[in-house]
Amino acid sequence: MCGIVGYVGKEQATPILLDGLQKLEYRGYDSAGVCIGDGNQLQVVKAKGRLAHLAELTDGGKSLHGSVGIGHTRWATHGAPSDENSHPHAADQGKIVVVHNGIIENYQKLKEMLQANGKQFHSETDTEVVANLVEYFYDQGFDFKMSVRKAVERIEGSYALGILCRDYPGTIIAVKKDSPLIFGFGDGCNYIASDVPAILKYTRDVAYLNDGDMVIFTDHDALFFDGAGDPITKTPEHITWDTEAAEKGGYEHFMLKEIHEQPKAIRDTLSPRMKDGKIVLDDITLSADYLRNLRRVYAVACGSAYYVGVQSKYIIEKLCQVPVEPVLASEFRYSDPVLGADTLVLIISQSGETADTLAALRLAKEKGARTLAIVNVVGSSIAKLADDVIYTWAGPEIAVATTKAYSTQLAVVDLLALYMAQCLETVEPKRFDYLYGELQSLPEKVEQVLDDSVIEKIQYYASRYFNNRDVFYIGRNLDSATCLEGSLKLKEIAYLHSEAYAAGELKHGPISLIEDGTLVVAIATNRALFDKTMSNVKEVKARGAEVLGLTVPSCEEEIHKTVDSVVLIPETDTLFQPNLSIVPLQCFAYYVALMRGCDVDKPRNLAKSVTVE
Ligand code: G6P
Repeated sequence: MCGIVGYVGKEQATPILLDGLQKLEYRGYDSAGVCIGDGNQLQVVKAKGRLAHLAELTDGGKSLHGSVGIGHTRWATHGAPSDENSHPHAADQGKIVVVHNGIIENYQKLKEMLQANGKQFHSETDTEVVANLVEYFYDQGFDFKMSVRKAVERIEGSYALGILCRDYPGTIIAVKKDSPLIFGFGDGCNYIASDVPAILKYTRDVAYLNDGDMVIFTDHDALFFDGAGDPITKTPEHITWDTEAAEKGGYEHFMLKEIHEQPKAIRDTLSPRMKDGKIVLDDITLSADYLRNLRRVYAVACGSAYYVGVQSKYIIEKLCQVPVEPVLASEFRYSDPVLGADTLVLIISQSGETADTLAALRLAKEKGARTLAIVNVVGSSIAKLADDVIYTWAGPEIAVATTKAYSTQLAVVDLLALYMAQCLETVEPKRFDYLYGELQSLPEKVEQVLDDSVIEKIQYYASRYFNNRDVFYIGRNLDSATCLEGSLKLKEIAYLHSEAYAAGELKHGPISLIEDGTLVVAIATNRALFDKTMSNVKEVKARGAEVLGLTVPSCEEEIHKTVDSVVLIPETDTLFQPNLSIVPLQCFAYYVALMRGCDVDKPRNLAKSVTVE
């Protein structure tokens, strides 16, 4: 959601900014712009639409001269996507220019104050208020730095800001609160960005800004300050992963690449934590005593991460006999959850920056609960704030629709459940060893799901069903949780109406929507519940549905008697079956989206990292 890149150096800034913004396209955006400084001139070019349009307007960056600049991709919040509402925003007198991620909550009040003081506004955005507020203080005689400081003191809400001042050529000031921002240390140049991939081609040495931090930088210098205005030192962290990891590497889309990276991502996540038949979670500090006194776990997250939370209920309750309540972060933060020292709040987030999830984490901490985060982005806000973190080692995920982050989050839930069971001794040693072995063999089994023969079958089903109007996903127990994610994938990238229902619930309403030819995807991987699910399949078949069944080899013969077509996945323990079932569903959504001509990696209206509530 919105992307910022800033550069000061000796090269022409525009091509570098365009390149960086392109790497941030995955975050989701609807307009883009740059402001380039050349001596005392600040020139803004911005437009609604894709970056390619901005590149055309600037002749690939060649028509805008200057070696300092800030760039932005905007995901509309205040005001529709339009040329005027695009960033960067210049203040009334053009002395200050700003790019901003986040939301200024008190912008209306500030706008009225600034208008009363003669400032004119040209957009509907909250960001223009920041530009004018900084200029307002600058007009009063404060220097650039103090004007920014005084402005951010007045602002309520979330922000990552990149700011230029006409009278300070070659200088950028950046400041952040509740929106991610990194600083990149270059050789004779320096950078800021919302995320590492934007500048990875240019530098591997980065510093993550904390809330309240400010950096004032030129091509040879960077001064960092904390929220109180005191100077601080930032030691560069070296990024070890390759730019390749953030490139498509021969695949047509990032999503397809990331689907195929799942065996490795799961292996990287599991193997360092599985040693000699034991789960080793060195990274966390939950003691056996604490776990014994644990009364409840809340699993709090948004989107697909929330669906991992739904899975965690079945897995942790089964293995550890501790009640787990999955709650959407946007609801959790405004409810009155019962929290205390005997409650563990599991926070699940790929980006570690989702605004609602971060707020839920803060609430949990305030109310004295222990917090454990499952996060993919090292050094992200959630990772830093939670009491404990277990990282998913998925590597950078670029496609908006998550795949490998979801799979690795689920793998961490499996690890955590087994770890808790190990401490609580709630699982028989023989069964524990079996589960341990099954968990260890998951990466190989995911590889089998991605075998060409399975993919070809899924491509065929996608070609058969891509024109359907509605799709229903049904299943029981863990399969019903997998349905939620499978259905979301189809909605997100193929813009196809689909719903996920616990199979037994269908007859309480949604069955009225089943007509001749309606596609129902039935997941039936749980032997014990197989017949029950098949009864529900018969109910929809009787009303004309076309049913695509997803099951395991031991149920293959039987499922053929009821459904129209079948996808087979390898067998594992029922508890881990979702790690395998989700993969064909991701592939199905991907190929349906392709056949419907959708922009798979950048679906309309969606953002990768949702930093507003
Ligand atoms: C967005 C993404 C989803 C993701 C959700 C939560 O909606 O498109 O893929 O599941 O945010 O994001 P998080 O980074 O907290 O996992």
